[in-house]
Amino acid sequence: MRDFTVLGIETSCDETAAAVVRGRAPGPGKILSNVVLSQLEEHKAYGGVVPEIAARAHVEAIDTIIEAAIEEANVSPSTFDAVAATAGPGLIGGVMVGLTTAKALSLGWGKPLIAVNHLEAHALTARMVARIEFPYLLLLISGGHCQLLAVESVGQFRLYGTTIDDAAGEAFDKAAKLLELPYPGGPKIEVLARKGNPKAFPLPRPMKGREGADFSFSGLKTAVRQIAKSAAFADTDRADLAASFQGAVIDSLVDRVGAAMTMFRNEHDRPLATLVVAGGVAANGAIREALTALAKERGFAIEIPPPALCTDNAAMVAWAGVERCQLGLFDSLGCAPKARWPLASLSTS
Ligand code: KG4
Ligand code: ZN
Repeated sequence: MRDFTVLGIETSCDETAAAVVRGRAPGPGKILSNVVLSQLEEHKAYGGVVPEIAARAHVEAIDTIIEAAIEEANVSPSTFDAVAATAGPGLIGGVMVGLTTAKALSLGWGKPLIAVNHLEAHALTARMVARIEFPYLLLLISGGHCQLLAVESVGQFRLYGTTIDDAAGEAFDKAAKLLELPYPGGPKIEVLARKGNPKAFPLPRPMKGREGADFSFSGLKTAVRQIAKSAAFADTDRADLAASFQGAVIDSLVDRVGAAMTMFRNEHDRPLATLVVAGGVAANGAIREALTALAKERGFAIEIPPPALCTDNAAMVAWAGVERCQLGLFDSLGCAPKARWPLASLSTS
């Protein structure tokens, strides 16, 4: 079986990104280029991502970013086996920019198009980094999603648990706002938490011990708000509150992943099971450490891609393209961008 070379494009949120990846499943693959332009500055003043600003910034940057990715990879478009772009879920204006550009390139170069689900791209990233066989247990923790799934094959996912309110990254971003830290708050909370005592404030551990593997973070956010807004709360308490919040998120994640490990083992009787962690929140060092300890305790191997491949990037989209290309899973030029596109629906789409 030969290697496949795919150009990937990612524009579903506030990163304009393009990458060229070469390889074949089950991995690992080789990243020939990975260019990411963050729009952080454009959105800074608004404390979050403004969809219209994001879409316009994608339009302005996309051509240059793709050119840079092709140049850095030092390949000719004639060597591409396909052009892959995120087709959802995400901010629809941005998704349209990336997908439409991919369609134009696909048509112009005469290469097949692959419409990639952003969540599947996060889910498969670990196979670009290391050789990991299906099935594996996946914890997907990002700004918009918080899910535990069995990844059975490309396009085949079984959902064990999801959040009943906020996503983990959203909880980090909201807690950061209460601590007057700029968006995106996750990385800033992580830094501040290093200087604090995680036991300083007793915060709830949402869903801990509950049946199933669902998550909830809104009660934790409310508890953080009550403390941060109380008259007694001093500036010097901020690091302690950041550490206590992060500690509560970690305890909750560890409990829920532990429950999903039992579900996975009951369904997949195999000597070596692997836990894969993906999505922006998987860039957090303390979370990586806690999940690594849990995996060791429960006899799971663990794979967490390096932080730059956990947050949004186009290499993951290109790799999802490689996997789909290898299986002959191409899409028509008429395929539509999707604001919502749950992973569990992929198997039937
Ligand atoms: O996967 P991602 O880049 O975009 C989405 O698809 O959502 O994830 C972004 C999320 C944001 O909520 C951000 O605050 C969070 O990931 N994040 C982190 C860290 N780095 C990014 N959360 C906690 N600790 C971090 N180091
Ligand atoms: Zn993402």
